[in-house]
Amino acid sequence: NESVILVTKVFKGTFVHSTHTSPLEILENIILGVSEDGKIVFIEDSSEQENLAKRWGFENTDITHLKDWEFFIPGMVDTHIHASQYSYMGTGLDMSLLPWLNTYTFPAELKYKKTEFAEEVYNKVVKRTLKNGTTTACYFATIHTDSTLLLGEIADKIGQRAFVGKVCMDINNTVEEYKETTEESVEETKRFISTLLQRKYPQVKPIITPRFVLSCSDKLLKDLGLIAKNNDLHIQSHISENTEEVQIVKKMFPDYKSYTDVYNKCNLLTNKTVMAHGCHLTDKELDIFNQRGAAISHCPNSNLSLCSGLLDVRNVLKHKVKIGLGTDVSGGYSPSMLDAMRRALDTSKALTIQNSGYETLTYKEVFRLATLGGSQVLALEDTIGNFEVGKDFDAVLVNPSIPGGPFDVFASDTFEAVVEKFFYLGDDRNMVEVYVAGKKVVNL
Ligand code: GUN
Ligand code: ZN
Repeated sequence: NESVILVTKVFKGTFVHSTHTSPLEILENIILGVSEDGKIVFIEDSSEQENLAKRWGFENTDITHLKDWEFFIPGMVDTHIHASQYSYMGTGLDMSLLPWLNTYTFPAELKYKKTEFAEEVYNKVVKRTLKNGTTTACYFATIHTDSTLLLGEIADKIGQRAFVGKVCMDINNTVEEYKETTEESVEETKRFISTLLQRKYPQVKPIITPRFVLSCSDKLLKDLGLIAKNNDLHIQSHISENTEEVQIVKKMFPDYKSYTDVYNKCNLLTNKTVMAHGCHLTDKELDIFNQRGAAISHCPNSNLSLCSGLLDVRNVLKHKVKIGLGTDVSGGYSPSMLDAMRRALDTSKALTIQNSGYETLTYKEVFRLATLGGSQVLALEDTIGNFEVGKDFDAVLVNPSIPGGPFDVFASDTFEAVVEKFFYLGDDRNMVEVYVAGKKVVNL
């Protein structure tokens, strides 16, 4: 019903996004309208301005004109980030996964028993990621329900789209106190979900979060699978990040065919599942991901920092498995999705060095992974990911030529060259405005 749609924001300028057919489209001389409820109402050539103004009832003076070289990109989607690990980001990356978890991670996560500590860190991580253009984040918190609810409250208050997970882990604890019984884990998960859903945050949703197979009993995994199914919820976990981990899972579960088979048999692989890493998945396992519609979060900074492995993104795409990028703070040391794009390129280049003839990923393809790919991973493709009419306006205004910025723009540059420079060299200084569902996020 068009007559009741009120267009409250109109932008004129250049828009850069991905589609299914093209990883990078540069749309120049565009006029884009956003409705009162934050949705894209039109995106057309600016020669249509007069017609559009008549039809939607806006004035010339309502139009925001982008400056020279400025462009909008869709807000980026961080498909895997540990909000709780933000407190020690950039430290302790001198070990492989399992010793790293025991030495740094579990002791750090224990501190979130105190909601005051959680409040400080969670405010900072939400602001920092938004400032870096992450309009949607899929968060792991800790086992503590009240602190995790606080993360949801903070994301809502500051204005980030988010999935928030109360971590579940009932076995193999190495840190005194940082473990739950199976029953506690299940009951607290139920309390977490019902409390968060009751609050009716428009953009913040709960996600079922078994830490990984090594931290969860068979019973806990099955119970969580059932809770997800009964409430039609998203699911996140880790899979096949490191070869030592994969070997232990094999020993723990000799009756299952693979790591993937464990999650699959526990009803944890659905079209709303996102599994982080997957560096060492076999082709057979990728086929199961494809059949289930489950997705992979590629976390290249973490995979390199913890020497976990080099995920072959081409092979994942060949199996038609949904894939996006994640920072995996703090196995990854950067909260920036631009960094995730660059590390994904580095990883692909390392694979190219190892395998002659390997088709290296392009900067355009990793941009698609960071935006449209991420929206698919989180089953939000109808809502976010690019600038299509009907989707929410989640966007970042990029100014490549700010004074004191991280790189230089020359009058002789093409627009495409400037876009490419931004992806390789830009940072949060270039991200001058951030929008989530049409609302400008302020005070970052
Ligand atoms: N596997 C299980 N827990 C974790 C975690 O916190 N970080 C990473 N990178 N892998 C994990
Ligand atoms: Zn992780």
